[in-house]
Amino acid sequence: MEDLAGPEVIETKKGGVWLLKNPNTNKGLAFSYEEREQLGLGCMLPHRLCTIEEQVALELEHLRAKPTDLEKYIGLASLQDRNEVLFYRVLVENMEEFMPIVYTPTVGLACQQYSHIFRTARGIWLTPDDADRIPQILRNRPLPDIRLIVVTDNERILGVGDQGCGGMGIPIGKLALYVAGAGIHPSKCLPISLDVGTDNPRLLEDPLYLGYRKRRLRGQEYDDFIEAFVQGVLKVFPRALLQWEDFHNKQAFRILDRYRKQILCFNDDIQGTGAVALAGIFASQRVTGTSIADQRVLYIGAGEACTGIARRVAAAMRSEGASKKAIQRAQLMFDIHGLVRRNYNMEPHCVQFAATPDTLSHYGLPDADATPEQVITAFKPTVLVGATACPGVFRQSMIEEMTRHVDRPVIMPLSNPTGKAECSPSEAIAWTAGRGLVATGSPFPPVDYQGRRHVIGQANNVFIFPGLGLGALVSGVREIGDEMFTLAARTLADSVTADRLESGALYPPQSELREVSRRIACAIVKHAGETHVGRHIPPYEIEATVRRVMWYPDYVPIVRKR
Ligand code: NAI
Repeated sequence: MEDLAGPEVIETKKGGVWLLKNPNTNKGLAFSYEEREQLGLGCMLPHRLCTIEEQVALELEHLRAKPTDLEKYIGLASLQDRNEVLFYRVLVENMEEFMPIVYTPTVGLACQQYSHIFRTARGIWLTPDDADRIPQILRNRPLPDIRLIVVTDNERILGVGDQGCGGMGIPIGKLALYVAGAGIHPSKCLPISLDVGTDNPRLLEDPLYLGYRKRRLRGQEYDDFIEAFVQGVLKVFPRALLQWEDFHNKQAFRILDRYRKQILCFNDDIQGTGAVALAGIFASQRVTGTSIADQRVLYIGAGEACTGIARRVAAAMRSEGASKKAIQRAQLMFDIHGLVRRNYNMEPHCVQFAATPDTLSHYGLPDADATPEQVITAFKPTVLVGATACPGVFRQSMIEEMTRHVDRPVIMPLSNPTGKAECSPSEAIAWTAGRGLVATGSPFPPVDYQGRRHVIGQANNVFIFPGLGLGALVSGVREIGDEMFTLAARTLADSVTADRLESGALYPPQSELREVSRRIACAIVKHAGETHVGRHIPPYEIEATVRRVMWYPDYVPIVRKR
């Protein structure tokens, strides 16, 4: 697994301006005088040498002077295309400031504006016209040893829908978080867009739209295309981990079920979200002194996110010995047409969470339409999760009713980007009279309520996927088992400090992301060894091994290859 770490020296036959124009080799003013001399860079840079710290300070000056977040996004993307090490150094050292730019919420806007802010291409685009030559195209990857791929078909980008080729912002952003958050070397990462067309009329009518200007591929042709893609990845990158990202739920569950045992892969929207939300629930139990079996979870929005969470909560309950009936009674779901139950015209993915007649009668609920408030009165949820991309869905009356029955209600308005949240944290805190434990999908500032400051933890999947991915790659597993997501959730929940919990936050600050990722990776490696699904690394060596492969962005010497 040593090959996961970045190189200690770069040997190259190239020289001169090529090195300055290549983001993987460019150090700008940090090229030493000796390197300048030996690599044909003499007099191609101003005289001054800069340390990377000085370069970071300069970049911060530029970025902070930008008037909007979208401009900052463009500035950071340009830096990534100019000098990769410096880009990651800026990101790693200023995670809280720039993660909301590189990823949600700003990336949502960047995806929507993609064709108009496009500067430099990154990653690989595959269109239906390429279906019979996918391996050939994948071999065009910029660097040889790809170990991590994030792929989207662009249909459900965050909460902003079909963004056609603009969805590429998501794999690029996610991979940046893998690198910054878990130290996976950037040369191992490849973003891929399956540009199968778009049904977004705004894009189809835009004369400057940069993508494949056709209606979306559907049906058997779509499935055949995905199959060709998976076979291509298996052929060209047999050791890579594939992350499915922002597919519509009609495709996401089918694809995951079909391929999870064929190729090392997972779906972050379903499984990563399940784990990060479960971690929030586990963390809340440290405040309330309850166990997973004590929870009753009400979901609003029976899509990928909520179904993924419900699966994970059910698995956690099962692993702690809860009966099938108890698990069924512990979770209820609303979707757009009401409570999901028998006879509800539901999507296949949420059938297993439809309220059974036993559950309804257990809570004295009718097998007929009921409002969320009525369900809350009867069900007395301890946790309320929203993932609808529909702002305002958490009404004051719902949260007040919940607060009547529970001492510390857990409120999770998870929708992204910011404007899509089901309610704002300040509303959730006020409506629970300051007793709510609130976690959101997008970042929010603390809320001051009646003389007390409530820190809002962000249920960001970034606390799960980088560490999980790193652990999977280090241990060389062939499949990411369900139990690994629960393990990651438990490790994340245990990483929240007592002080932070006291302030109301169910998640650590993003400044601790690398430490959290390291802990998750170690837990995965240990588990994989113990259960014989991955490389056996002696327990006393696991931490050192994980630390060794985690890349910290710094320049390495560049020398001429003879
Ligand atoms: P999805 O499209 O699979 O599911 C959304 C569901 O909400 C659909 O079933 C839809 O019918 C339902 N819905 C819409 N309006 C509703 C309403 N007024 N009442 C009840 N149900 C309603 O989308 P997915 O993947 O589940 O994502 C939803 C949102 O969650 C997005 O904004 C996404 O960005 C966010 N999300 C947040 C995560 C996090 O915080 N870590 C992770 C994954 C998703």
